[in-house]
Amino acid sequence: MIKKLRKAVLPVAGLGTRFLPATKAIAKEMLPVVDKPLIQYAVDEARAAGIEQFCLVTGRGKTSLVEHFDIAYELEATLKQRGKHKELQELREHHLPPGAVVTVRQQEPLGLGHAIWCARAFIDEDPFAILLPDDLVLADVPCTKQLADVYAQTGGCVVAVTEVPREHTSRYGILDIGRDDGRLVEVRGLVEKPKPEVAPSNLSIIGRYVLLPDVVEHLARMERGAGGEVQLTDAMAKLIGKVPFHGLRYEGRRFDCGDKVGFLEAQIAFALKRPDMAPAVRAFLKDYCAPDA
Ligand code: UTP
Repeated sequence: MIKKLRKAVLPVAGLGTRFLPATKAIAKEMLPVVDKPLIQYAVDEARAAGIEQFCLVTGRGKTSLVEHFDIAYELEATLKQRGKHKELQELREHHLPPGAVVTVRQQEPLGLGHAIWCARAFIDEDPFAILLPDDLVLADVPCTKQLADVYAQTGGCVVAVTEVPREHTSRYGILDIGRDDGRLVEVRGLVEKPKPEVAPSNLSIIGRYVLLPDVVEHLARMERGAGGEVQLTDAMAKLIGKVPFHGLRYEGRRFDCGDKVGFLEAQIAFALKRPDMAPAVRAFLKDYCAPDA
């Protein structure tokens, strides 16, 4: 029997060193793309896939992320008083039901695998999605929904994958693949950050996963992998051959918002999708790109 997917873990305990000094006092995941913080995009995407329960894995200095999911009564009252109904409605659309968000602490950023292990009591015996909020996907069908639809058919583990230039394989978790129908690939192996000359393919995992709870027992061993961190990829690799394991070439465009250029690109791409902003953005981009600019 394939258990319904209802839970998501959102690891947000990283240090965000690539965004210092912006991330000295605020969480990277609170940085906005246009007018919405990264964490909100991730939660909205998960909800669109039918997820009902959320676990934020937080760390020191990440309080604002949790507060973001509180109801801001004074603010809402003021908006109402001032007749700002559109703004009020937007805030309310993001309310989550009471008890839908829990947080756990990762006291030291020992790696993504360790962050997921910190959520073990929340995961319990259920399948769960993972969304890394700094990976943002612009798609007609939200990326997590695409994964959830495949999971409902295949069960097991499903990860979102994309081709990367071979010279960049050492930045990502890379798949060794079996059967491939052009969209769905059978995962035969996983390697974290392999050098291009030994990478089994150039198909990389992005920050969207649907996993079975079995992965937790492998994380519990706390084996250190690439970069001395407890790697999620290494624990996932232990499930291959034991449960169905697929990679999905998702439809959509992914932006690595943990990287400055990726973050900037996301601002432009998301602004160009907004009818209220697109004409002005297109006009200034044209100016900046003019040969004599
Ligand atoms: P990154 O690899 O982007 O690390 O983490 P980072 O610390 O956030 O950023 P840089 O590289 O220092 O600039 C990917 C995701 O995993 C979470 C991060 O919060 C981010 O959402 N993470 C990473 C944890 O929660 N704990 C960790 O120990 C590591």
